[in-house]
Amino acid sequence: RIAGPSALVIFGVTGDLARRKLMPAIYDLANRGLLPPSFALVGFARRDWEHEDFADVVREAVEAGSRTGFRQEVWDRLAEGIRFVAGTFEDDDAFAALQQTLADLDRERGTDGNHAYYLSIPPKAFPVVLSQLRRTGMADQDGDSWRRVVIEKPFGHDLDSARELNALVGSVFPEESVFRIDHYLGKETVQNILALRFANQLFDPLWSSHYVDHVQITMAEDIGLGGRAGYYDGIGAARDVIQNHLLQLLALVAMEEPVSFSPQHLQSEKIKVLSATRNITPIDENSARGQYGPGWQGSEPVVGLKDEEGFSPDSTTETFAAIALEVDTRRWAGVPFYLRTGKRLGRRVTEIAIVFKRAPHLPFDDTMTAELGQNALVIRVQPDEGVTLRFGSKVPGTSMEVRDVNMDFSYGGAFTVSSPEAYERLLLDVLLGEPSLFPVAQEVELSWQILDPVLEDWARSGTPDEYESGTWGPASADEMMNRTGRAWRRP
Ligand code: BG6
Repeated sequence: RIAGPSALVIFGVTGDLARRKLMPAIYDLANRGLLPPSFALVGFARRDWEHEDFADVVREAVEAGSRTGFRQEVWDRLAEGIRFVAGTFEDDDAFAALQQTLADLDRERGTDGNHAYYLSIPPKAFPVVLSQLRRTGMADQDGDSWRRVVIEKPFGHDLDSARELNALVGSVFPEESVFRIDHYLGKETVQNILALRFANQLFDPLWSSHYVDHVQITMAEDIGLGGRAGYYDGIGAARDVIQNHLLQLLALVAMEEPVSFSPQHLQSEKIKVLSATRNITPIDENSARGQYGPGWQGSEPVVGLKDEEGFSPDSTTETFAAIALEVDTRRWAGVPFYLRTGKRLGRRVTEIAIVFKRAPHLPFDDTMTAELGQNALVIRVQPDEGVTLRFGSKVPGTSMEVRDVNMDFSYGGAFTVSSPEAYERLLLDVLLGEPSLFPVAQEVELSWQILDPVLEDWARSGTPDEYESGTWGPASADEMMNRTGRAWRRP
């Protein structure tokens, strides 16, 4: 579907996200023919820029980040609808200018009063921008037109602040006009979890505590945090990634079949799972956190977090977090879900591994199965997108020796079309008013409810353990698994 006439206003347009993700995604949507000719992009920031200066910035970002290739005629059409409004968030005159700019676009370019406001700004700026939108009437639905707000994480700092934020947003926009971005839900491989589970008969009978031993969800990055102290220091890995991306992945893996793929049906199944999810206790033995020290990223020596620009030498921000959860439902009772994420780990990889129980009986000598692990279905979210089924197979030869092998599906091999970037899909859905891929307030609050006890436990128990950059996290992460006789996968 192609978006209808609309204007997208980005607050925080000088930030990293806008430049690296949003601007290229907007252009790529235009290049794929998914934006209407009347589409307009309005930047708002404290810069002394004219429209043309902003257009130059967008063009540079597009040339650096577009996935569909630069085409002059597409750019020219898009550039005609680019506007810039200079000002601070407190400045009433700047908001009056923004309102005027939007009114002009509605009239001259035909954006028809449909406005989406993208808040790519620090959370502390939310109240002032939201109250400006309310005060000026820019948030109000006007006849047949729509007004929507897009919010980037962090959605609060804990449950209480998330509730406050939801109440604040809800006092300006109705819930159906609020689009909370969790860009993992925009990823093709994440949406494929639903296809894998609900379009096939093969996996469903195995998808429960009868056959599943445990589930491991890993989001590992090799990069460090140089340059990101402003956002990350004091936030840490659990708030940055587990509260949103990893708990959403858990919800998709563990939920029951939705009645349909309508947003309400999807959300209600996710809400059921998150409501049934609890920490495995004691939390200190079933969680781990770490902070990277010096080490290696690829073949380059790198410094530890405390020596990264902007971080204080006594920062206690964790860059690695692992937690163990249980989903108290008939399907999952007794199956641990292990979630881990970290910076400066061995490599960049996101995967979900469903690890199965061992066969109840192995009619082989122990020596024959010495190299047989547990069967696993691995959903490879990125970068090597696909699905792997791992099982035991006879090693060719005269003896019955069994070893693990992989059966692989890879997107690159099976499909010729490339996946749109997550932000493309999500921005298009905002303009279409299609909320399926956006967590609702209740999901956000339930996720904090799960994470808060862990954060409180960590706050009481000293500092994160140091791990060497380029390894797979602190020893405490391995210990937490070893205590249960399990081990993390080395993707
Ligand atoms: C963001 C986090 O949400 O996801 C970042 O704030 C992280 O810290 C990023 O680097 C990773 O996204 P992706 O799509 O590269 O896995």
